[in-house]
Amino acid sequence: MTDVLTPVLTDNWGDDRAWTLASYEARGGYAAVDTAFAMAPDDVINEVKESGLRGRGGAGFPTGMKWGFIPQDNPKPKYLVVNADESEPGTCKDIPLMMASPHTLVEGVIISSYAIRANKAFIYIRGEVLHVVRRVQRAVQEAYLAGHLGKDIHGSGFDLDVVVHAGAGAYICGEETALLEGLEGRRGQPRLRPPFPAVAGLYASPTVINNVESIASVPSIIGHGHGWFSSMGTEKSKGFGIFSLSGHVQKPGQYEAPLGITLRTLIDLAGGIREGHDLKFWTPGGSSTPLLTAEHLDMPLDFEGVGAAGSMLGTRALQIFDDTTCVVRATLRWTEFYKHESCGKCTPCREGTWWLVQTLTALEKGQGTEADLDLLLDQCDNILGRSFCALADGAVSPIMSSIKYFRDEYVAHLTEGGCPFDPARSTAWA
Ligand code: NAI
Repeated sequence: MTDVLTPVLTDNWGDDRAWTLASYEARGGYAAVDTAFAMAPDDVINEVKESGLRGRGGAGFPTGMKWGFIPQDNPKPKYLVVNADESEPGTCKDIPLMMASPHTLVEGVIISSYAIRANKAFIYIRGEVLHVVRRVQRAVQEAYLAGHLGKDIHGSGFDLDVVVHAGAGAYICGEETALLEGLEGRRGQPRLRPPFPAVAGLYASPTVINNVESIASVPSIIGHGHGWFSSMGTEKSKGFGIFSLSGHVQKPGQYEAPLGITLRTLIDLAGGIREGHDLKFWTPGGSSTPLLTAEHLDMPLDFEGVGAAGSMLGTRALQIFDDTTCVVRATLRWTEFYKHESCGKCTPCREGTWWLVQTLTALEKGQGTEADLDLLLDQCDNILGRSFCALADGAVSPIMSSIKYFRDEYVAHLTEGGCPFDPARSTAWA
């Protein structure tokens, strides 16, 4: 069974010294930088394009294509920004990656910056995870001292400075333009797109913003060649990715596997669902992606497969819930998160998420009538696609999908006058 795993980024996570420069170099680290320097920057871009790598932050935009959008005739400086503001509920891949192997990220930053002709790169890390900020800072410092960063890297003539920036702990700052606002010292709120950051990003200059896992995948692609990467995965979703399993499985954790693997296989790898229980619902890519159920166990976990099922692959944050979970309560909990994290810039999100929480709270308590369920769906309709950024679209995803699959459970709250899963009210909790 474990032969379906493809440990590349996670390969050395069992070694508690894997994060040091000595360990990284001993396993061939920073060799791909020289491979890249022997190529023209455009050839590095083409190599990543050919590999088929798609953004691992959730949206799946082709990475090489994004790099190709940087207008090289623009005289302004070019920037690379690594989005390490991982905050999507259930998503826990970038933080362990940076803890276990920060030099993989730094090496990816060097190669990616070289490709887009950026001499300055920023790693924007979620503010609450100070231990991660320190670890990446340490890796950057080690890389400078060893000549992997700074002036004339490896005698190539290429200069690169890297700044590690700690965010202030707002979910919205994972949205790329809000992240840029934060980096520029302003309140983290999204900007209107277009222009996309590739054209006018940090300090209104051409900027590539990529997720940690995307950038960390680059050294292996350059080191092994695009064909190696594209030989894994499915037709349109190439390569491997880190799947984070949490919730009601025996062995929660990160499982690195080719895109297109099924949830059934991943759950088997994770030792199965809690003993004596069955899968009830799950998120393919965090709570911003519509919920799915046991009927989707054999669906390929790639961008197309999950999309065809009416959801999104997103960050591959597989939150697994068994039959003891109240879907209404889980949905309310997520909705409270979105209400709390709404930046307040646009009305549908600021006011809408507040209303969603009010309506859902009442339903969860068994108050109201079935008409309130339609009111809730109407609120969702008035939010979806009408907000400034994707945060509010994410907020309505668990609500709309939970009603789609579990309307009966919402109705049961109303007919029973409370939550049927409440331990004080029933024996449904094991
Ligand atoms: P998007 O699809 O609008 O953009 C994706 C990327 O492609 C961006 O970098 C954007 O600048 C670029 N892009 C798209 N069209 C372009 C064009 N015409 N020209 C140049 N560049 C272009 O998606 P968005 O709003 O950036 O991200 C949404 C995703 O974020 C969701 O799918 C969700 O899964 C994920 N997400 C991840 C979180 C995390 O913690 N990792 C948190 C919340 C959401």
